[in-house]
Amino acid sequence: MSSEEKIFFTYNDIHNTIQKVAQQIKQDGYDPDVIVAIGTGGFIPARIIKTYINKPILTVGLKLYDENNIPKKSPEKIQWIDEVEKKLKGKKVLLVDEVDDSRVTLEYCLRELMSDAPAEIAVAVLHNKNKEKRGSIPAEITRYWVGEELEDKWICYPWDAIDINSHGT
Ligand code: G4P
Ligand code: MG
Repeated sequence: MSSEEKIFFTYNDIHNTIQKVAQQIKQDGYDPDVIVAIGTGGFIPARIIKTYINKPILTVGLKLYDENNIPKKSPEKIQWIDEVEKKLKGKKVLLVDEVDDSRVTLEYCLRELMSDAPAEIAVAVLHNKNKEKRGSIPAEITRYWVGEELEDKWICYPWDAIDINSHGT
């Protein structure tokens, strides 16, 4: 893949985009009880959101791509919330991930979390790729914030950089 087919973001880009998303969430009057980060890509975005919306972060680990970067049929659960029902029942959840790509992981995660009877789940993603989606956001989910709409290109996040000083140069 040539560099024109990739989009690079720095830590500062990410932080600024999340600040914008957090402002929108507040403007829309959503006051979550808990943040749920989809790892691993959602970990750092969720932590930055916490700077603006200071709520506890729970994490779930999901993996769609295997060791050879081939997407699996369904995401694999790497880790889940312990005592999940106790932690989510009746709660307002803010689900955070870095990228809405195929929506397969997002849909899987939303359906799993919905089965624990939260009061509401809202979604915040840093980036949405404008493309035909394989998954869909369940109709019950009515709040969804996107930091930035992007073309369907490979996004290079700073946390994936081997040499951060040459990231994007
Ligand atoms: P979605 O539901 O949120 O749309 O995600 P989807 O199932 O399509 O795929 C999610 C996986 O693909 C995540 O990695 C995510 O990080 C990765 N991904 C998709 N597009 C990009 C991209 O442009 N750049 C990068 N860096 N990653 C991308 P995962 O293997 O499931 O887990 P993890 O990497 O978050 O640990
Ligand atoms: Mg990934």
